[in-house]
Amino acid sequence: MEKKNLDWENMGFSYMQTDKRYVANYKDGKWDEGGLIDDANIVMNECAGVLQYSQSVFEGLKAYTTEDGRIVTFRPDLNASRMVDSAKRLEMPPFPEDRFVDAVIQVVKANAAYVPPYGSGATLYIRPYMFGINPVIGVKPADEYQFRIFTTPVGPYFKGGAKPITICVSDFDRAAPHGTGHIKAGLNYAMSLHAIVTAHANGFDENMYLDSATRTKVEETGGANFIFVTKDNKVVTPHSSTILPSITRRSIMYVAEHYLGLEVEERDVYFDEVKDFAECGLCGTAAVISPVGKIVNHGEEICLPSGMEKMGPITQKLYDTLTGIQMGHIEAPEGWIQVIE
Ligand code: PLP
Ligand code: COI
Repeated sequence: MEKKNLDWENMGFSYMQTDKRYVANYKDGKWDEGGLIDDANIVMNECAGVLQYSQSVFEGLKAYTTEDGRIVTFRPDLNASRMVDSAKRLEMPPFPEDRFVDAVIQVVKANAAYVPPYGSGATLYIRPYMFGINPVIGVKPADEYQFRIFTTPVGPYFKGGAKPITICVSDFDRAAPHGTGHIKAGLNYAMSLHAIVTAHANGFDENMYLDSATRTKVEETGGANFIFVTKDNKVVTPHSSTILPSITRRSIMYVAEHYLGLEVEERDVYFDEVKDFAECGLCGTAAVISPVGKIVNHGEEICLPSGMEKMGPITQKLYDTLTGIQMGHIEAPEGWIQVIE
C-alpha cells in the first residue's frame, strides 16, 4: 500500500481529513451493524441531544508503524472499556467493547496510507466518539445515538516536541468531587477552554488543576495526567477519583516498575511537595510523555532540577521504554499491542 505524500516530519497536532470513517447507529434499543463510510460530515436535527445538552463522550488512541513495517495500536481494549464507563455515566448505551476494537482495526486498515512511517515522529491519531442524535428538549437522555471513529495523522501535541514546557496553576477548577472528571466526556473539555485560552494568553503551555474541594492536591492538566520523579528516583503519580484514568499513565507505572525496576507510588500529591521533585512530566495519548520544566503559581516559580533544555534522565528512560514498546522494538507485555496489519 502506498503512503500519502505528506510532510510527516513537520506535522502538528491538528485535524486532517482521511479517507474513511466508521459509523454505527443506536435506535430502538440496539446498535446496527455499522460500517465504513466516506462522508466526513454529519447531518443532524437542530434539537439533537448533543447540541442541546452536550451528551457526548470520546476516546483517543494511536496507530503506529513498527520498525519492521507492521501497523499496530496500543491497548485499544482499555479505551473500549473506558468508553463504556463514560457512556454509562452520561446515561448513554455502551458500545460493545469487542465491536469497538474491531471498528478501530477496520478504520485504521482503511486509512493505512495515512499511518505515518516508522521514525517520522508522527502517528495516526484515532478518535472514537459517541453522541445523542435525536431531538431532545426536556433535560433527559437521547433515545438515539451515533458512534463514530475518524483518524487523522498527527505530530507532537506540544510545539517543540520533547522540549520541557512551562505550566501554571489554574484558578479554575476542572472537576468536582462526585462529578465527571473521571470520564472522557466532551463537557469536561468545553469547560476547560476558557482556562486554557487564559493560560496561553499568559504565556503558559498548559494548566495544572488542583483538586476543587481543598485546592491543595495536584490533579491533572486539561488533557494529560502527571508523573513526578523524586530525588531518589521514585515515580509518583496523583491518585484521585476526579481525574481521567490515563492508559498511558497506567502503562508508564507498569514500565517503571517491571522494566526499569523503579519504585512507584500512586497517592495524594500535595502541591506543597512539588518543589521537592526532581522531574515532572505530562502523560497521555496525545502528550505521550511531555516534560515540564517550570510550574508557576501566581508568580511563584518552581523550576524542576531537570531544567528547560531536555527531559530528565528518568523521564527519558520511561519515554524510551514506552515508545519502544509502542513502536515494536521493545517486547510488550502480553496483550498490549494489537496488530492491525
Ligand atoms: N487526562 C485527560 C483529561 C485527558 O484528556 C487525557 C487524554 O486522553 C489523559 C488524561 C490521558 O489519557 P490516556 O493516556 O488514556 O490518553
Ligand atoms: C488524548 O490524549 O487522546 C486526548 O484526548 C487529549 C486531548 C487533549 C487531545
